[in-house]
Amino acid sequence: MESSLNRYLLSHCSLRSEALDWIEKMTNIRTNYPQMLSGRVQGNLLKMLVEISGAERIIEIGSFTGYSAACMAMGLPEGGVIDALEINDELEDLMREGWRRAGVDKSIRLHIGDAVQTLKSLSGPYDMVYVDANKRQYTEYYQLCLPLLREGGFLLADDTLWDGKVYADTVPSDPQTKALAEFNDMVARDPRVETVTLPIRDGLTLIRKRKGL
Ligand SMILES: C[S@@+](CC[C@H](N)C(=O)[O-])C[C@H]1O[C@@H](n2cnc3c(N)ncnc32)[C@H](O)[C@@H]1O
Repeated sequence: MESSLNRYLLSHCSLRSEALDWIEKMTNIRTNYPQMLSGRVQGNLLKMLVEISGAERIIEIGSFTGYSAACMAMGLPEGGVIDALEINDELEDLMREGWRRAGVDKSIRLHIGDAVQTLKSLSGPYDMVYVDANKRQYTEYYQLCLPLLREGGFLLADDTLWDGKVYADTVPSDPQTKALAEFNDMVARDPRVETVTLPIRDGLTLIRKRKGL
């Protein structure tokens, strides 16, 4: 959606990259739901969070055409790695070409398949997790990821405000809204973490695993 706010945010966002522009263009041409791509503003935030936190091991759940993974990889230190989890194997060529153009292909390991199964095969500790896949599975991803995160590590969950539906006077009962509302409530009550939701795009919740658990 091209609102004046979005245009303003874009014109004041420092991340510039021909490779990212190429991924965005190809996503528009070759996929049915290009709006799923996170975009330059959120991508810039993700890259900066990787840099500020010094994260070296990252899991991404839901890579789509590889845009957000490329942004995070641009913030990694030498030797850092992202495990990118994506169920749609038709997107693999596009992802890999975009990562090659961005010069980050060596630091991203792609796992094609259901994220729940892949998560069960990974070993921690990880510094950061970015969750952006099936909204109905957010709670499952979270429960699988928390033990994989190091103390003080953090998880970012995207789309948690779901177009405002989760805080509507009458919360709609469709499966995605219901699952996200339950996820948000569960995280807010979980004593193992501290959390804050940023109203960026469709809501981005930052969840930090407490120390000394
Ligand atoms: C919103 S898009 C991700 C956008 C991407 N993070 C970005 O910023 O460009 C969600 C992706 O999650 C993937 N997905 C959905 N369910 C999944 C699952 N169970 N396991 C792995 N990936 C899944 C979809 O195929 C889709 O590509």
